[in-house]
Amino acid sequence: MIDLSAEFAGLKFKNPLIVGAGPNTKSFPNALHCMKAGFGGVVVRSLHMQYPGQHLLPVREFWNIYGDRKKIRKGFYSLQSTAAPAQRVNEKAPLGWGGASRIPTLDEWAGEVRKITEAAKKYDCVVIASIGWCGSNLSTEELWKAEAEAMAAAGVDAIQLHTAPSPATEPGRYITMDPKKYLEMPIKAVKESTGLPVFAKIPVDCCDTIASAVVAQKAGADGVVPVTRWSSITIDIENEKDPVWRGPGIGGPWSVPIMNGLIFRMRNAKQPISYIFQDSAEQFLDSVSVAVPIIPSGGVRSGSDVIGYLIAGANASEICAQVILEGTGVAKRIEREIYEWMEQKGYRSIGEFQGSLRLLKHDEAKDIPQWMPAVDAAGCNACERCVKACPNSAIKMLDNIASIDEDYCEGCRTCYYICPTEAISLGL
Ligand SMILES: Cc1cc2nc3c(=O)[nH]c(=O)nc-3n(C[C@H](O)[C@H](O)[C@H](O)COP(=O)(O)O)c2cc1C
Ligand code: SF4
Ligand code: SF4
Repeated sequence: MIDLSAEFAGLKFKNPLIVGAGPNTKSFPNALHCMKAGFGGVVVRSLHMQYPGQHLLPVREFWNIYGDRKKIRKGFYSLQSTAAPAQRVNEKAPLGWGGASRIPTLDEWAGEVRKITEAAKKYDCVVIASIGWCGSNLSTEELWKAEAEAMAAAGVDAIQLHTAPSPATEPGRYITMDPKKYLEMPIKAVKESTGLPVFAKIPVDCCDTIASAVVAQKAGADGVVPVTRWSSITIDIENEKDPVWRGPGIGGPWSVPIMNGLIFRMRNAKQPISYIFQDSAEQFLDSVSVAVPIIPSGGVRSGSDVIGYLIAGANASEICAQVILEGTGVAKRIEREIYEWMEQKGYRSIGEFQGSLRLLKHDEAKDIPQWMPAVDAAGCNACERCVKACPNSAIKMLDNIASIDEDYCEGCRTCYYICPTEAISLGL
């Protein structure tokens, strides 16, 4: 029997898949959908309460850029969120965020979250409330506490803090410039006022994520949530301008290896990934590792992404955009992929492979198996693309067929990717 459960910060998740704060959890019906689909946890949408009691203007906030329209579910998409005023506002739309929805007051939102926590009991789902952020310059200690207490009273299991300056209201500000304001103060205030586990969400684009995670840990955070989304500006060359400042911005599956690196470096501060040599790592002996749970948020679209995060040292993973693109059925698909991988590897619980990533020492690297390309003569049309592309001049044409000299080949795979007829295969 394989156990997919994840336990940390006093919480038990039936699986390590948590829906990230966003459209999927912006209302009771949406969150219910996620819970029914089998996610281990949901992070209910951040309240963004800049002005207590005030209804904020709805915003249009999300669209896909880049990526192939037809392949977006499985392809290499990139998503952009923003904060442009929504033009199609419908006062009758249910409470929530984005598009036509009317942004609720704290009281209204607490009522909605209460419905979510009640339903969660039936679906064995952990409920985490996200609070704060948008306009941290306006978020006082009292405001953090008011939001956190309202969420605690609504029955949530934990609080996730949307820390960090908002690029829209505080351009140029970085967490690192004022870690007391963006991390220490909210973490301490929320812990003190609710007693609930507190996770600090730390975006990559406004700080040194690893140092900020250490600050959060020192301030008493029960976990950190690194986020791979960057502020960005996509230029519309037809109109020669970008309509609005892009806030928390751009992210996507391409960022998964970056997140792996972040998680690994958080867990292994004494072994920075850019210094593979033992003696260089010794320069960092005083660096502090992140020992609290890490729950990454960014780029996940498959079981292998989640497995990778766990191997790098994470405790669970949040998923947002892929749920939007694929629907809540993604929970069962990813769960199955993780289950099958564990079955094949003989693992019975997540703890057996979690944090198992170790960097090779330099002299061990020679044992890494090298890819060796092979040409299928029948498939080669003599286009010579591989000959021109090979950085090691390892390919020559012999009798109009590409031929690889193994003595020169270093297994970079360029020829494999570039061959138009897929005549080149890889072996070890
Ligand atoms: C439309 C949209 C709205 C979002 N709203 C919030 C939010 O209210 N609070 C928050 O902490 N993160 C918010 N996020 C960020 C996601 O929770 C997540 O951290 C980010 O999208 C990266 O994960 P992903 O690649 O799985 O989407 C939002 C993301 C999107 C796309
Ligand atoms: S790129 Fe492919 S088809 Fe072209 S010469 Fe090389 S092996 Fe042959
Ligand atoms: S794998 Fe790289 S080095 Fe080897 S033949 Fe192909 S392009 Fe050249």
